[in-house]
Amino acid sequence: MNRRNTLAALLASALLAAGPAVHAQAKLKVGVMLPFTGTFAALGTAIDNGFKLYVQEQGGRLGGREIEYFVVDDESDPAKATDNVNKLINRDKVDVIVGTVHSGVAMAMAKAARDSNTMLMVPNAGADAVTGPMCAPNIFRSSFSNWQSAYAMGVVMAKRGHKRAVSLTWKYAAGDEMVAAFKEGFEKGGGQVLKQLNLPFPNVEFQALLTDIAATKPDSVFSFFAGGGAVKFVKDYAAAGLNKTIPLYGPGFLTDGTLEAQGDSAQGILTTLHYADSLGTPRDNAFRLAYVKAYKLQPDVYAVQGYDAAQMLGIGLAAVKGDITKRAEFAAALEKAKIDSPRGAFTLSKAHNPVQDIYLRKVEGKQNKVVEVAIKALADPARGCKM
Ligand code: BEZ
Repeated sequence: MNRRNTLAALLASALLAAGPAVHAQAKLKVGVMLPFTGTFAALGTAIDNGFKLYVQEQGGRLGGREIEYFVVDDESDPAKATDNVNKLINRDKVDVIVGTVHSGVAMAMAKAARDSNTMLMVPNAGADAVTGPMCAPNIFRSSFSNWQSAYAMGVVMAKRGHKRAVSLTWKYAAGDEMVAAFKEGFEKGGGQVLKQLNLPFPNVEFQALLTDIAATKPDSVFSFFAGGGAVKFVKDYAAAGLNKTIPLYGPGFLTDGTLEAQGDSAQGILTTLHYADSLGTPRDNAFRLAYVKAYKLQPDVYAVQGYDAAQMLGIGLAAVKGDITKRAEFAAALEKAKIDSPRGAFTLSKAHNPVQDIYLRKVEGKQNKVVEVAIKALADPARGCKM
C-alpha cells in the first residue's frame, strides 16, 4: 500500500514537472472558416491550400505544435456567420481562427473574436472596420483593407487622364467601401464619379446595369467583383461591346484566379492589387513552384494571403514557444516582424493590417502582369482604430 502511494506520488510529480512540455506539444487547434461553396468557393479553396502549404513546409508544425484543423464552410452568408464562428469557438474550442473571404461574414467573426478573446487571422476579407473601429490585439489580417486596393485604383485612373467614371459593384460592405475609397482617390486627382451602380450580393444579372453604363457614356468604369461573379461580369462587359469604348478598371479581384474562365474577354484590363503573376522574385518563384507541385494549380492572390496567414501565425507562435495564450508577446512579435511574403516583404500597421506595395497590373494571356508599383508601402488609414 505504502509502495503504491509512493509510486502514485512520483507519477503525479513527474506529470506536474512535465506540465509545460505536455502543453507545448498538444496540437494547436486551428479553426478554418472559409467559403467552400458559392461564388467565392474558389477563393476559399486557394486560401486553404496556401495556408496548408506553408504548414507542410514547416513539417506540419508551427511554433513547435502540430496543427489540427476544424473546418466550417461559411457559404459567404453573413446571416449564418455568428452561429458558424461560435461552433469553432464554443464547440471545437479552437486556439485560433483563420477566416474569411466575405467582409460581412468577417465583421461577425471579428465581433465574436473580440468578445471571446479568440485569436483571429483574416486571410482575405477587406472590411475596413476589422482594422478600424473593431481593431484588437488578438485580430490580424494577412491580406488588405478594402480602402487599400480601391484607393490606389482611383489615383491611377485620375493619373491616366480619366475624368468621368461610373462605378459598379455588389451592394455589401466590401463593394460600398471600395467604391468610397476609389472615389476618394479619383476625386483627389480631379475625377468625378457620375453614378454609383450596384446589385445585391451575389447576383449576376448585369444586363440592365450595362445598358445604363452605355447610356451614361462615362470615360471609364470602376468595378469590384470577385470569384464566379467576376468571371461573369467581365465576360458580359465584353459581350456587350463596352470594352471597345469604355475601359474597365478595378481592384485586382476582378481578374485574379479568374483568367482561365474569362479568356479573351479580360485581355488588357488594368487592375491594382498587392500581388501579380509576374513578380519574378526568387521568393515568389519558389512559392509558385511549390504551389503548382502541391496542387497542380496556378496560385493567385488568395493562395498568397492564406500562405502568409500561416507565416504570421508561425512568427507569433515561435515567439511564445507555442503558447498562444501569451497574447501580448505574440502580438509584439508580429508588430515588429517583416513578413517574407511572395508578394514582397511587408510589415503590419499598428492596427495589424499589411503595409504593402500596390501594383498596377495588366492582363496578358493567362497572367496579371506587373506594369509598375502604383503606390509604394501603402498603409490603410485605420480610421477609428483605438489600440
Ligand atoms: C470582401 O468581401 O472583402 C472581398 C471578397 C472577395 C474579394 C475581395 C474582398
